[in-house]
Order: sequence, then C-alpha cells, then structure tokens
Amino acid sequence: MAKLFEPLTIRSKTSRNRIWIAPMCQYSCEDQDGIPNQWHLVHLGSRALGGAGLVMTEATAIRPDGRISPWDTGIWNDEQVEAWKETTAFIKNAGALAAIQLAHAGRKASIYREWSGSGAIQEADGGWQPVSSTDEGFPQYNTPRELTTEEVRELVQEWATAAKRSVEAGFDVIEIHAAHGYLVHQFLSPITNQRTDEFGGSKVNRAKFLVDIVKAMRQEIGDEIPVIVRFSATDYREDGFTVADCAEVAKWCEEAGADLFDISSGGIVLGVNIPFGPGYQVPMAEDIAHEVDAPVAAVGLITTGEQAEEILQSTEIDIIMIGRASLRDPYWPLRAAFELDVELDYWPNQYTRGKFKK
Ligand SMILES: Cc1cc2nc3c(=O)[nH]c(=O)nc-3n(C[C@H](O)[C@H](O)[C@H](O)COP(=O)(O)O)c2cc1C
Repeated sequence: MAKLFEPLTIRSKTSRNRIWIAPMCQYSCEDQDGIPNQWHLVHLGSRALGGAGLVMTEATAIRPDGRISPWDTGIWNDEQVEAWKETTAFIKNAGALAAIQLAHAGRKASIYREWSGSGAIQEADGGWQPVSSTDEGFPQYNTPRELTTEEVRELVQEWATAAKRSVEAGFDVIEIHAAHGYLVHQFLSPITNQRTDEFGGSKVNRAKFLVDIVKAMRQEIGDEIPVIVRFSATDYREDGFTVADCAEVAKWCEEAGADLFDISSGGIVLGVNIPFGPGYQVPMAEDIAHEVDAPVAAVGLITTGEQAEEILQSTEIDIIMIGRASLRDPYWPLRAAFELDVELDYWPNQYTRGKFKK
C-alpha cells in the first residue's frame, strides 16, 4: 500500500492517512468579528469529505490585534468557540482530524484582503497599530509598537488560553504559526529581534517566546492533544534565521511538548530570492527530519499523488500538506488514491457512484 495512505498516530489522535490540508486564510468573516460562518463550514467540510487525514483552519487569531486582516477568524471569545463547534463536528464526522492554526500577525497585521483594497488599513479606516518584537515596520504596513517584556509574558498565556478554547471548540490538533514573518517568527529572527530583554539577543532568548508558548499550552491542554509548530526554516538571508537554527529550536520545542514540525520558509522580509519550484521546501523539511525525533510535514508545490508518495518513500518526512492544489480540487486525496491504485474504505457513501474509474 502507498505510504501516503498509511495512518499516523500522535498522542491520542490518529490521522487516517498522510495527507493534510494546509492552513489557508479565507478572509471571510464579513462582520469582521472573527466568528466562523457557513463559508468556513463548507470550505473546511468539503476538504474533509475529500478524504484528507487532517483539515487545518486558516491562521486564526488568538486576539483581535493578531488578525492579518479584519476578515480573519479568531478564537478569543466564547461566541467564536461556539461557532467553531459545527465545523469541527462536521470535519470529524467525515473522518478527518480537525486542526486549528493559532496565530498572531504581529507587525504584519491590519491589511486589506485582496478583493477589498490593498496594503495597510489605517486606524481611521478601521485598522489598528500592530504590536511586534520591534518598532520597525514591514514595508507598506502600519508601524508597530514594540511589546514590553511584561506584555510578552502576558501574550504567552493568551496563546495557552486560545489553545484551551480550541479544545473546547472540538479541535483535535493545534498548530502554532511561527512562520511567514508573523509575530512568533518576528521574535525568532535576528532580523526583527534586537531586543535586550529575556526575549532577545541570543538564539535561546529569541526562541524563548515560542518555547514558553509550547510549555504553557501543554500545561493548559494536558497530554492528549498534539501540538504542531509551523516554522519558516530559512529567511533566505545570511543574517537571518537558518535551517540549522530551525533544527535547534525545534529540538527545544520537542522537549517543551511539541509533537510535529511543519516546515515552510520565508516571509520575514521582502527582496529575497526564493527558489520556487515543485517541492522546493522538501529539502529543508528533510534536514529538520534528520535532526528531530518528532514527525515532520513538508509543504509547498506538492501537487500530485505520485510526487507526494515519492517524497514519503525517499525521505524521512512523515506528512504531506496540500494547499493550493486542494483549492482547485477538494477531492485531491480521493484522486491521489485512485492514481496510486489504493482502495479506500472512506470514500463517502453518498458519492460512491462518482468514483474515479480507469
Ligand atoms: C490562499 C492562501 C492562504 C494561505 N494562508 C495561510 C495561513 O493562514 N497560514 C499559513 O501558515 N500559511 C498560509 N498559506 C500558505 C499555505 O499553507 C502553504 O504553505 C502554501 O500555499 C504552499 O503550499 P501549496 O504549494 O500546496 O499551496 C496560504 C496559502 C494560500 C494559497
């Protein structure tokens, strides 16, 4: 049997296969209240029906100023927790694990969604001043305010509270968004962290925010729920965060209670050369997989079942995440099974008459 369709158990949760849907912002909370709605239910639910082992939400803000745009989902209040329950129940009934990506955008907050405008939303237009590890802004974005040491300590607890709320909302798995130049990455990268307090300076100090979040979450949610960390394994700059740094920080996260690493790249600065191409982030994920005991997920321009299977067969990578290909085709996993000659027992009964045929 293809490795892509072997189950994987982490703590108390079993994914029916190795195909996970990558987190993808939908910018669809029309009332700008962070409450998921029918869009999120149908979008995420379709991908669960499509046969994925795990379906992950978009970057979901742990508090209002952590939203990338005002249309992002959130999990900072009870109303949001209640609203997520319908989606998590649907995903689970369809046989997939329900995962949430918890996020804080830091200095990359308060921007328009693509179809409503462009660039930063000024405070006068309903935007806000972002907070960050630094008071240096991202080009074209609102200038952030540097968080005080006490505020960073409080934020650690807010991440843990969001994790607890996520479990209440029915999520099986929690991912910490520490990639793409958002707040946690802003602390990790020497390019955006020149702090002189306990959260800046040495690599250990720059990683302290993330490691403290993992520890606080683990304390809040107990032993059953898997915690994933998504990293940008490189800033594509010599003075930035590197794959070697990432491997070291991942090990600290593992000791603190993290269970899997999801390896992406970039996002902290503009103007770098990213070698986009099929599976371009796979070698980095492979490097991290060599260094840690925990399973590792690869993501980025993986588009066919054959390509995904080849990665699992030829590397130590355990999970394949599918993003854009699953926007084109919510049934990507069912199609991959057909391509790889795998007979699945979770083709939806209602869809049996539509099975792929040779
Ligand atoms: C519409 C869209 C929204 C995205 N939103 C997020 C997000 O919320 N969090 C995140 O970590 N990555 C986000 N990403 C990145 C994807 O998770 C994924 O890493 C990336 O698209 C590369 O994988 P792919 O080539 O399979 O699409 C987004 C990508 C797309 C296309």
